[in-house]
Amino acid sequence: MKKITVVGAGNVGATTAQLIAEKNLADVVLIDIAEGIPQGKALDMLEACPLWQSDSSVTGTNDYADTAGSDIVVITAGLARKPGMSRDDLLMANAKIVKAVAESIAATSPDAIIIVVSNPMDAMAHVAKIASGFPSKRVIGMGGVLDSSRMRTFIALEAKAHPKDVKAMVLGGHGDLMVPMASLTTVGDKCIADVLPADKVEQIIERTKTGGAEIVSHLKTGSAYYAPAASTVEMIENILGRKSEILPCSVHLNGEYGISGVYVGVPVKLGASGLEEIIVHKLSDSEQQALNKSAEAVEGLIKKIQN
Ligand code: 2OP
Repeated sequence: MKKITVVGAGNVGATTAQLIAEKNLADVVLIDIAEGIPQGKALDMLEACPLWQSDSSVTGTNDYADTAGSDIVVITAGLARKPGMSRDDLLMANAKIVKAVAESIAATSPDAIIIVVSNPMDAMAHVAKIASGFPSKRVIGMGGVLDSSRMRTFIALEAKAHPKDVKAMVLGGHGDLMVPMASLTTVGDKCIADVLPADKVEQIIERTKTGGAEIVSHLKTGSAYYAPAASTVEMIENILGRKSEILPCSVHLNGEYGISGVYVGVPVKLGASGLEEIIVHKLSDSEQQALNKSAEAVEGLIKKIQN
């Protein structure tokens, strides 16, 4: 059985651990600085495993020694948004946390693939790559899968289609400048322009961009976790070879899409070595400009951390 560590036993971390155990994907270690929380949540999940017909071992700890030799480590640690905050407002506090976490992971699980969920995610992926010293193909950010799932949801509702028949791809950083790609959006075998009027598509794109904030405005005390956890597990299932899909993930670009040295969401294939392939689509001029702008915003955050 593979070993997956989830760092952060808050809502996103615990729900991710739950899905891994429920789907019997791997043994799970849940780690947090709060004493008792990872232990209690992990034991609670372990006690559900007979009902899930799962033999995953689920343990909770405050000690990185217990995470040693993990195949995959998911970083969810850090502060979440409150109403009125953008993901970028979390920058400095979460950079410090993610740096410390990535250093501990590098020391205890030197061969792991890291999935970064903490916000602002693309910048945090950069921080995790530098702090871990891992090759960039083993540090991948989760954002595009979530944003695309939100877009698919809104399209399915509007088009009265089954969500599984809706395909969508949101590229760029997981922030206000994300790039929902109408040109890559389909319902069944039809492109979106043949299914919904242009103004509806535009509304859905706007709702997708503010999808995270919409949840925060309802919850008031925190941000989304069911869809973020499901999106993270989708990436894990691809890394483990249970699925083979093209997923939008934040990866360190090296000239692809004309962008270099920055984490930004693009379509990729994941597998046993982490990032296996970046899929390069031909973008329209406006899509390329939007992607460039989104990448520049991520670069701006990295500069702020470095100063
Ligand atoms: C979201 O989009 C928290 O970034 C996460 O909901």
